Parts: sequence; C-alpha cells; structure tokens
Amino acid sequence: MKILGFAGSNSSKSINRELVRYAASFFNYHDIEILDLNDYEMPIYKMDREKENGIPQLAFDFAHKIDSSDLLIVSLAENNGAYSAAFKNIFDWVSRIPGRKAFGDVPLLLMATSPGPRGGASVLEIAKNRMPRSGGNVLETFSLPSFSENFDRAKGITNEEFRLQLVSKIGSVKAHFNQ
Ligand SMILES: Cc1cc2nc3c(=O)[nH]c(=O)nc-3n(C[C@H](O)[C@H](O)[C@H](O)COP(=O)(O)O)c2cc1C
Repeated sequence: MKILGFAGSNSSKSINRELVRYAASFFNYHDIEILDLNDYEMPIYKMDREKENGIPQLAFDFAHKIDSSDLLIVSLAENNGAYSAAFKNIFDWVSRIPGRKAFGDVPLLLMATSPGPRGGASVLEIAKNRMPRSGGNVLETFSLPSFSENFDRAKGITNEEFRLQLVSKIGSVKAHFNQ
C-alpha cells in the first residue's frame, strides 16, 4: 500500500507535519512518502495567468503523487480559521486539471492541529465539508488541540485520551483496507 502524507503548511517547523509523521508511523510496514508543500510552490492562482501560461507542471506533479497513492494522510494548518495560503494555492491549481478531481478519490485520513485549544477545528470542518466534493474520500477526521501540551517529539501524542482517539481512527482506516 502506498501512503502519501503532507501537512497543509509551508512552515519548516510545521506541527502538522509532525502529526502526519506520527500518524504515518502506525503504518510503518507500508511505502510511505511525506511531501513538503515548499516543493510545490507556484504563483498565486489567477485566471489570467492560467489563460496565458496554462497550469504549472508542479500542479500536475502534485496530482500525480495523489493519483499514485492508496491512502492520503493530511493534517491542515489553520490560518485565520481556514486553509493556509500555501495549501489553498496548490488545491486551486490542482483543481484546474481537467478530467480529475483534486484529491483523486483517494481515501483520506484528515487531521488538523494547532497550538490553541480548538486544534484547527475550523479548518478541519471546512475541509471535511469540501473535500468530498473535490474527490477527497474522507475516511476519518482527527483534531489534536494544544499541540505543545499534548505532543512530544520523541513520544508522539502524550495525552492518553487523544492518543486512543487517533489509534481507534487509524484502526478504522486500516479496516477499510482489510488490515
Ligand atoms: C497568519 C496566521 C493565522 C493563524 N490563524 C490561526 C487560527 O485561526 N486558528 C488557530 O488555531 N491557529 C492559528 N494560527 C496559528 C497556527 O495554528 C500555528 O502557526 C501552527 O503552528 C500552524 O501549523 P503549522 O506549524 O503546521 O504550520 C495562525 C498562524 C498564522 C501565522
């Protein structure tokens, strides 16, 4: 099984990337690739730009990564209650590729975390509602609040309640693949 993970963030110290890596570690006997959105940075989406120059190759490259995966593990950074500009820009460009949906109908474990007590609840809600219409087959969602209080770089999620929640959701994701 090919697993593709990425954080909806372009921060080199992304806490969402740490959460993606942690969640991916529960699937450690699979082929796992974690993308960095910085490798897919494109000019801000603009219709005139698309008309003039077409869709950037990086958008096709990103779509290809999605299409060649069996499972996506995504954790979204919340900026002003919504997607980070870095993630939204890739989403917008990829959504312009004809003949496919942005998330390619690939099963998805959708998460969010933030330093605050809401754990990215707003962006998670937005994505949970929108992604299915953009080919995101959301199997489970998970939010980790107050990241620095509940996560340790070496140990992962330290709060037992949240750890068990994620373990259970990963269990249902695995069940989807009969594992
Ligand atoms: C412009 C900006 C807006 C933000 N807005 C929110 C917000 O609405 N809700 C929230 O929980 N955190 C917000 N934050 C804090 C982010 O959750 C925090 O920077 C987090 O580390 C982002 O995830 P990342 O480390 O994966 O990039 C904001 C941060 C920035 C820079």
